[in-house]
Amino acid sequence: MKQLNTRPGLLIYPCKKRLGRPWVTEITAALVHAATSIADKDLFLPQIPDAMTALENAAKIIKEGGVVAFPTETVYGLGANALNPMAVARIFEVKQRPSFDPLIVHIADLPQLEELSTSRDPRIGKLAEAFWPGPLTLILPKTDLVPDIVTSGLPTVGIRMPDHPLALGLIRASGCPIAAPSANKFGRLSPTRAAHVERHLPEVDFVLDGGTTRVGLESTIVRLEPDGFVVLRPGGITREDLVTVLPESAKTIESGGPEAPGMLDSHYSPSKPFYLYRPEILKRIDPLKAGFISFKGEMPASFLQTRTLAPKGDLKEYATKIFSALHELQESDVEVIIAEPLPETGIGIAIMDRLRKAAHPWQ
Ligand code: TXA
Ligand code: MG
Repeated sequence: MKQLNTRPGLLIYPCKKRLGRPWVTEITAALVHAATSIADKDLFLPQIPDAMTALENAAKIIKEGGVVAFPTETVYGLGANALNPMAVARIFEVKQRPSFDPLIVHIADLPQLEELSTSRDPRIGKLAEAFWPGPLTLILPKTDLVPDIVTSGLPTVGIRMPDHPLALGLIRASGCPIAAPSANKFGRLSPTRAAHVERHLPEVDFVLDGGTTRVGLESTIVRLEPDGFVVLRPGGITREDLVTVLPESAKTIESGGPEAPGMLDSHYSPSKPFYLYRPEILKRIDPLKAGFISFKGEMPASFLQTRTLAPKGDLKEYATKIFSALHELQESDVEVIIAEPLPETGIGIAIMDRLRKAAHPWQ
């Protein structure tokens, strides 16, 4: 049984619209047990009524065609029944997402994968065994069961099995695969805490709070090709990790095109001007009005606000904190946000991909 990375008290925010008044119920680790039990199927624990009620409420909303924000190990997702086009349409509406940008479908077991994809490529089993549940999305040919709205009309569908008991529990309890983009307005910062969703997507029907997400960056997206694979979006699972499982040589990243709009030049942007640090920046902006995000704690000037994300130089620790730091600074009194560039090794590649896209409009 996997350990949930969450604080001891889990908060469940019920739908303000549906229930008429804002309230919050705190139900400790019971929910984690319940979710893990649903995820493990056999250990279903109906004797934890509060926890079961919470997940059942979320699942009921999904079944009725609503949208639920839920934690995954990467970032929070904005989920709806992937097989219900009207429900999926609400995701696009709430997120203000252009219809050309397809969604990832989240599954809880391999039989669901077989329903969603026509591919029986043996490499899928190898990747699933190595990385699922986990932060890897596979782009595969879709079956007719997958509505066109999910894939923006593409013949392929992005599928992943999230490594989070609440996500797996929700999929199981809803009885359907769940289509979910990151739970933020299109092009904005991804949410790594329930409060980020609450603030920026108040219209969502229900938010399951699983604390801060463990990985902090969106999944690695991979498309299998007859003679190799293509990484469409870098993430916590690196090209090297993939090559150890699929020793065939990896093709280089393809750029542009709407085939993975997460590859657009601008994405993940804070609402305030954001720069990657270089010394000339300090000639253009006043550091006393800026927030500076440092890797290990070195500051090139005195800033209004500073955040040090990884004092020991651990890029994984940085990845878990970067979106939260950007959220905090965009809500704070700073006028400009600056982040120090990072070494592009391991997950540093994925972090720099996000930071460059966040900075793109202002460079
Ligand atoms: O970690 C994650 O992947 C999170 C959590 C919630 O699972 N989800 C996420 O979703 O980051 P989203 O929608 O923010 O990013 C999904 C990316 C988009 O860039 C989309 O274009 C790409 O996946 N995508 C989805 N389906 C695709 C397809 N059939 N072909 C190519 N790219 C696809
Ligand atoms: Mg996103």
